[in-house]
Amino acid sequence: MPAATVPNDLESFWLPFTPNRAFKRAPRLFARAKGMHYFTPEGGAVLDGCAGLWCTNAGHNRDPIVAAIKRQAEDLDYSPAFQFATPQAFELASRVADLAPGDLNRVFFCNSGSEAVDTALKIALAYHHVRGEGSRTRLIGRERGYHGVGFGGIAVGGIVPNRKFFGTLLAGVDHLPATYSREHQAFTKGEPEWGGHLADELERIVALHDASTIAAVIVEPMSGSTGVLPPPKNYLARLRAICDRHGILLIFDEVITGFGRLGHAFAAERYGVTPDLITFAKGITSGSVPMGGVIARDNIYEAFMRGPEHVIELFHGYTYSAHPLACAAGLATLDLYRDEKLFERALALEPRFADAAMSLKALPGVLDIRTVGLAAGIDLAARAGSPGLRGYEVMDHAFRDEGVLVRVAGDTIALSPPLIATEAEIGEIFDKLGRAISAVA
Ligand SMILES: Cc1ncc(COP(=O)(O)O)c(C=O)c1O
Repeated sequence: MPAATVPNDLESFWLPFTPNRAFKRAPRLFARAKGMHYFTPEGGAVLDGCAGLWCTNAGHNRDPIVAAIKRQAEDLDYSPAFQFATPQAFELASRVADLAPGDLNRVFFCNSGSEAVDTALKIALAYHHVRGEGSRTRLIGRERGYHGVGFGGIAVGGIVPNRKFFGTLLAGVDHLPATYSREHQAFTKGEPEWGGHLADELERIVALHDASTIAAVIVEPMSGSTGVLPPPKNYLARLRAICDRHGILLIFDEVITGFGRLGHAFAAERYGVTPDLITFAKGITSGSVPMGGVIARDNIYEAFMRGPEHVIELFHGYTYSAHPLACAAGLATLDLYRDEKLFERALALEPRFADAAMSLKALPGVLDIRTVGLAAGIDLAARAGSPGLRGYEVMDHAFRDEGVLVRVAGDTIALSPPLIATEAEIGEIFDKLGRAISAVA
């Protein structure tokens, strides 16, 4: 059956993180995709400047991934996630552990980045509890951080509209300051020189609450959703040192940075800083089947392995943890990353990508451009009295008139193409975006 080209009814579907009324007046629909492109129901090609939503790192509808999913669907649709498992889940966990730094060797599966964050926060709290340090209940996030939409994630996150409608969130959360300062960092390629000292704010927070009450610090190594904010030089190493000094766990939320976005399997490797827990999602299956997870250091896992052997050690999990289709997709995706050297490719393309992004510097309303790996954030001046309108118009114009998909957050445009992009396609993405920025100025 061919895919329907016109939806039967636009009213029933309540779209996430979307202005529903504007969308339903003029929908933006995709019917299929291949490689670097989406195709609308009418057949129009749209160049993917965002890897979907930071997830299709291997490109769209790659044959080996599609074949693996088909095979798995025929063999085993579902296996209970509690008390039973599939061989593929073990295989995928060890493949992920191989890619992770240091002794991060234990993998807990879930279905999304939001679930990965809640899982990591719960593991951190329970870890201290089982070690007899149950007073460590505080969680420290960062202003402008995005950790998904679960209550744990929005509590430690720092994006105001994601928090302000939802009550008191989790108790006992504090926030580090954001690392971005336009005054000190505008138009930086890669990690800014200014801002490493902001990690020392953690010492102030520790002094305020006392280390004995703090369980974990969670940060994105590079803040993606809030507009691509690369970490200042040495910032993450300083956070690590302070956490070590006070027995606090360090969690890297690598839902965006995992699987090649910054030219390495994980950003932890790029920055030479090993956290205690890493969250991942998105790129693990190149977006093809929902999956997320947490990678824990050996000592964290071992701390739970006590008591009678028939008793569950961690009271946490999801019906679809390590779903067979996700595991099959994940294994095929990791093969593609390895065989096509896509992480290395992202690293090699980084200078060309950064130059292409900076070529938009002189366009009307461009206030700042930041790049790192194959990610770029472009801040545009807000229209007077209508924050977010210019960004929305650029995204809409880019889709309709230029045939390129870009992501918008307020008046910031974010780019993160699949890691298979050619130099010519990178140039094309920024040329198209540049024309869209000029057209709506
Ligand atoms: C750093 C980070 N954490 C968590 C999430 C949430 O992931 P999901 O939308 O799969 O729940 C995202 C999504 O963009 C993210 O960027």
